[in-house]
Amino acid sequence: MTSQADAQRDLIAYLDFHVEAGVDAALDETPHDRFREAETPAPPAGMPTRSRPEAQAPARDGLQRGDLPPRGHAAAPVRPAASRTYGQSASAKPEEAAIDARARARDANSLAELEALLAGFDACPLKFTAKNLAFADGNPESRLMFIGEAPGADEDRIGKPFMGRSGQLLDRMMAAIGLDRSSAYVANVVPWRPPGNREPTIQELAICRPFLERQIELVDPDIIVCLGSPATKAITGTKDGILKARGRFYPYKLPHREVRALATLHPAYLLRQPVQKRLSWRDFRLLRAALDGKA
Ligand code: URA
Repeated sequence: MTSQADAQRDLIAYLDFHVEAGVDAALDETPHDRFREAETPAPPAGMPTRSRPEAQAPARDGLQRGDLPPRGHAAAPVRPAASRTYGQSASAKPEEAAIDARARARDANSLAELEALLAGFDACPLKFTAKNLAFADGNPESRLMFIGEAPGADEDRIGKPFMGRSGQLLDRMMAAIGLDRSSAYVANVVPWRPPGNREPTIQELAICRPFLERQIELVDPDIIVCLGSPATKAITGTKDGILKARGRFYPYKLPHREVRALATLHPAYLLRQPVQKRLSWRDFRLLRAALDGKA
């Protein structure tokens, strides 16, 4: 017979195993019958798939990362607000949540309105495991917008993008070409921290995407810098890995004009692979030249 002490030890070993695997948040207090939920395509909320490169122990740049649907993919017919019954909670189906997100994002006439809409948007499961919405940092009047992947622990705690080690490196990279956060606007493809720093799922990316697109429209930058693979894939639609995609400008369509998006490496990847900073340096010099009207 198993003694209580054995059961306790097994339980602790089980929890240790999950902590080592990167699980640092309990998402639900009640059990779920996953077989009955099988018609919902999303993976069980909060069960980490693969850890993101970011934060304290960046591990990889997500080069093989699952893609976002190409631009415009989520542009499904928008139901009038009055008929919206979905999207009121994270249990909404992801595709309905994405449609709801698109309808809501369109309603935002300013960044402050968009941030408030996001703060009240309950259809992305990431919201319920994050401490804070990390909507943006920097200068919304800037001609330049950096887009990363997702908040890490520091960003989640502070409620702003790029506050941790990656953010410090980003600041140094910007300083190297004469920029700082007063001369750029900074955001992420998803504004809530995925639990355990796992990658955002395709569903989460699709749900958050309309808000990101509206955020870009409202900032109206001349140049977008995509930091890492998820941002590059989301903004440019490329299927190429980041090492192939980086160092080039891609067209990005705003409602009234076309601007340029530069793909480059994510600072978290550079923290792990400092030798690749030489590639970033090339990209940042290209960025400087573009800002100066020379590229
Ligand atoms: N990495 C990101 O992609 N975004 C952040 O805000 C922080 C780290």
